[in-house]
Formats: sequence, C-alpha cells, structure tokens
Amino acid sequence: MSEDPKVFFEKELLELKTKGLYRSLKQIDDLKGLAISIGGKSLIDLSSNDYLGLSQDLRLIDASIKGIKAFGCGSRASRLMSGNIRAFYDLEKKICEFKGHEASLVFGSGYICNLSIISALLGPEDAIFMDRMSHASIVDGALLSRARIFRFNHNDISHLEKKLKEYRNRYKKALIATESVFSMDGDIAPIEELIFLSKRYDCLFLLDEAHAIGVFGREGEGLVPRSTPEKPHIMIGTFGKALGSYGAFCTTTKTIRNFLINKARGLIYSTALPPSILFANIEALRIVKDLKEDRKRLLGISRDFRRFIQYELGQKTTGASQICPLILKNNKTSLELEKYLFEKGFFAKAIRYPTVPKDSPRIRFSFTSKIGQETLEMLKEVLKEFFERN
Ligand SMILES: Cc1ncc(COP(=O)(O)O)c(C=O)c1O
Repeated sequence: MSEDPKVFFEKELLELKTKGLYRSLKQIDDLKGLAISIGGKSLIDLSSNDYLGLSQDLRLIDASIKGIKAFGCGSRASRLMSGNIRAFYDLEKKICEFKGHEASLVFGSGYICNLSIISALLGPEDAIFMDRMSHASIVDGALLSRARIFRFNHNDISHLEKKLKEYRNRYKKALIATESVFSMDGDIAPIEELIFLSKRYDCLFLLDEAHAIGVFGREGEGLVPRSTPEKPHIMIGTFGKALGSYGAFCTTTKTIRNFLINKARGLIYSTALPPSILFANIEALRIVKDLKEDRKRLLGISRDFRRFIQYELGQKTTGASQICPLILKNNKTSLELEKYLFEKGFFAKAIRYPTVPKDSPRIRFSFTSKIGQETLEMLKEVLKEFFERN
C-alpha cells in the first residue's frame, strides 16, 4: 500500500529533529554593517560570506540603481533570447582581465554555474575525480552528467594520483574538480600539484575559487595569480561572497566558452541576471583590486582566531583562510554553542551533516575585514565562558 506523503514527510522531519540535524530559517529584520536583527535581538553576524563588507558599499548600491534606471528591473529573458544586454560583455571583459584568462562566461549563481558546466562537459563515457569535501554544486553537477565519479581523500594528491593511475584510461574525457578554499574547512587545495596531475593524466581541471575571490591574490583575483601561465582549464568565481553582490562566472578558453553557450542548461534555460546585479558586479571588480589592506587585515584576524581556538580554547580547527571552523564532538554541542552565542549577541551557525562529515559538526566563523578588534575580544570571552562551563 502506498504511504501518505504527509506522513512520510513528517516522519522524516521528526527523524532529523531527533538526530540534531533539523534546519530552519531565521528571519533577519534589519541589517547594518555587521549588525543584524532577529526577533528584536541585535546580533553581530559571523556567518556571512561578505568577507570585505562590499554588499553594503554605496558604490555598488549606486551602480545597481544606474543599472535599473538604464535597463529596468528584470532581464526579461535568457541570455540566448533577449536578456543578453551589453553589461554582460563589459562584465565578462573585466572578468578576463581580473583572472588573466582568455574567455569568461557569467551565470546566475555559483550553484547553477558548477551544475551546468560539469553536466555539459561530461557524459556517461567520461569520469570525474573530485575532492571528497567538494561543494554540493560540484557533486550535483557530476551526478547530473552521468559520468563515473571518483572521490579522492580531502586535498590528498597521492590518493588522487592512485585513482588516476588505475582508472583514467578507461574513460574518454576526465575532469579533476576541486575548490581552492574549502567553504566549511577554510583550507586550501594544492593547486600546482593538481595542475601537474591534470596534465600528466590528460584531464581537464576545474578549480572553484568561490571563497578565494576578493580575499586572496594581489588584486583579489584568487589563489591562481593572474600572471601564472599554467592555469586550470576552468576557474569558477562567485559575485555573491566577497564581491558583495550575486551571480557567478567561469573563466576558460574561447572554445570551451562557446561550447558552454551551446550546452550549459543553466545558461540556456534560465533568465539572465538582472541589470542591477550586472552593474554592481562591474563596480565590485573595479573596487576589489584596491582592497589590499582589507585582505591583509582579514587574513591576520583569521590567523589569530585559529590560534585562539587551538591554544586558548584547546579545541580543534583547520584551514588557512578567513573561514575558521570550531570543530566539535557532536551535533548537540554544536547546537548548544550556536544558542549560547546567540544569547550573547553573536550569530554563528552550527554546520552539520550532510554539509560536513557526520563526525565533525562545527561552528563556522567566517570573518569580514570590517569586524572591530573589540568585537573579536568579546567573542573570545564568550567562547572561553562556554568551554569553561562545558
Ligand atoms: C565552493 C562553492 N562553490 C559554489 C557555491 C555556490 O555559489 P552561489 O552561492 O553563488 O550559488 C558555493 C556556495 O557556498 C561554494 O561554497
């Protein structure tokens, strides 16, 4: 007998609650700088990816308004129809200069970008070798492509090479896919070694720089310097994180760009980004180059905070970026700490399975260059209190 869907969904939700894996949305009523307001409570937001505070920059806001005034609120159609306004060309030219790649293509979001590109590039006769911790958009793109999926241990080059040695030759095309800065661990991929292996084993290499753009690189171009001649075949970047706006891009060769225009379903079958966003993105790329001091401060703060977690709290952390996880033993403790921080005026989220492995739930602290030293000291005191009590 078939099951009543309502009963099924409620049972599933109850199970998530029992396991400490239930998720719910929190309504933000007000937002100014790092201060957000939830249910009448004012909190310091330590969970956003607005690493340089650009989402509220007046120059981006003015650019958005200009875009709306010039071309309206919506883009009215997909890029292959009549949504492809000139701002796309201005933006894509700027992206090529920013990343030092010959071609670029803008997508609706980072999720759509990875999903569409990977599923367009690969098919059932191909293989993808991806880091075990790869973002859901890479995993979902791989599943959609119907290519054979091989997952190598996190940042483990010798494990990847072992898999390539054994399996590469059995498939037509192959793609190595990973992130330059991992979104939940804040650690960094061995990019040069990955480029080397992609050549040795005749693979395409896709590097997702979503969390590196704006934060790393002399001008914020990410962890692959613009001037490097040896680049991954495809690099992904997003506008929704350090660049303070929305949308995403890939940089690649002209041939792959043309191929994607013809095959990437997230580009073909989805309405183009609106003018306001395109104009803001152009402005963000102009501004980000000059934020050297912000980048330096952000990475300095994060380095100190990781030391604090390790040596003063005696807890586990990882990484080498603006993302600082405080790794905990179980979901219950992660939810208790999330609640404690909330009560003390800090908004930092517990991250649990399936976003991270079952045995390493965490609080993900992601800093922005705008955070004050006093706020950081207050945060450290609150964390010390929690761990003294627990
Ligand atoms: C590595 C990585 N790629 C892609 C995305 C998706 O980007 P977007 O938020 O623009 O959809 C994320 C989002 O967190 C990410 O962490």
